[in-house]
Amino acid sequence: MSTYELLRLEGIRKRFGSVEVLRGLDLSVAQGEFITLLGSSGCGKTTTLRIIAGLEAADEGRVFIDGKDVSALEPDKRGVNMVFQNYALFPHMNVEQNTGYSLKLKGTPRTEIKKAVAEALALVQLSGFERRMPDELSGGQRQRVAVARAVINRPKVLLLDEPLGALDLQLRRQMQIELKRLQKQLGITFIYITHDQEEALTMSDRIAVMRNGVFEQIGSAAGIYNHPKTGFVAKFVGGANVLTGRMISRTEGGGKERLIFEHPAGRAAVELDSGEADSIQPGAEIHIAAREEHIILTPAGSGAEGLAAAVTGKSFAGGLLRITARLKCAVNKADDGSRADDNEGEEISASRQGIDAPLEVGDEVLVNWLPANAVIVDR
Ligand SMILES: Nc1ncnc2c1ncn2[C@@H]1O[C@H](COP(=O)(O)OP(=O)(O)OP(=O)(O)O)[C@@H](O)[C@H]1O
Ligand SMILES: [Mg+2]
Repeated sequence: MSTYELLRLEGIRKRFGSVEVLRGLDLSVAQGEFITLLGSSGCGKTTTLRIIAGLEAADEGRVFIDGKDVSALEPDKRGVNMVFQNYALFPHMNVEQNTGYSLKLKGTPRTEIKKAVAEALALVQLSGFERRMPDELSGGQRQRVAVARAVINRPKVLLLDEPLGALDLQLRRQMQIELKRLQKQLGITFIYITHDQEEALTMSDRIAVMRNGVFEQIGSAAGIYNHPKTGFVAKFVGGANVLTGRMISRTEGGGKERLIFEHPAGRAAVELDSGEADSIQPGAEIHIAAREEHIILTPAGSGAEGLAAAVTGKSFAGGLLRITARLKCAVNKADDGSRADDNEGEEISASRQGIDAPLEVGDEVLVNWLPANAVIVDR
């Protein structure tokens, strides 16, 4: 992957009626890069791709492809192609005709089309399927025809809108590998949409996490997963628990600093690189994210430290045991001078490999994590 900028979005805004669905998007994508827009339903992913493709006009902002402002260009003049979620193959055309359709429209000579189709089908491993009709193909094969059709005229940028969304898990995993291989082989820049965080993490060079029409964080898969900037990114990408409390003290040593975090359910710590949290003063409100696989649950009364909670659920799926526990926040009823009482706090989710856990629903536990496994995020 080069560092040559192939696509740039500058201040893209879009309104539908009274709702502003894109609220100022800036993005720079390198030639050959695989970048994924990840976000929940309705956050503006498809609208962003349609604006890049020229199927929709932005209200404000500009789109550059290969250094050229294409904001006013027709879709077919942009060097961009789009693969839609619903395949959109022509049902009355066979695989060969579907694949070569755009070349036929352009008036490309028949023999040239035949050669290009053969090449494109070989790329998606569908040589020999030329005469099949779409309804004689599996979902994965149809999806590969859609990809062959989109890459046949070698676009500079390929836009893929949840291309694997309709496939079952096994086929999706296989197609993820095939798409990635194809992208590397052709060197085409991919802008890929998914709302599946695992798919985003396995396929992308970079991920742009989108929320309510803005990019909340853009970075490498590892960067986003290990260093989420906001509570939303921590939850959405890492399935993290996000807790709000106060920083009460700090100790330093060995290039690290450890902040003690106080929550109404108890205390825990977070470890950061020295200097990372200089602006946080004792007493300040902070938000801590800890992924579910990093949550440690110990039976209450064992002398361990942490946040008091009670187990609320236990389930086993896909080799992973998931335990939920609700924090118990001590509340002082100062007005009538009565004792501290239990009050329900957030629900924490913990997961581990294997089915062995001696905890049962109702058990009192302490919730904690290794300080280095937690991060501080913005609200
Ligand atoms: N043509 C339109 N007219 C009015 N509102 C629209 C139009 N297209 C999209 N919207 C609205 O804009 C918002 C963003 O839609 P968009 O299709 O970009 O979301 P998305 O992130 O692709 O969601 P999903 O994951 O469900 O596909 C949504 O609230 C949607 O209802
Ligand atoms: Mg969409």
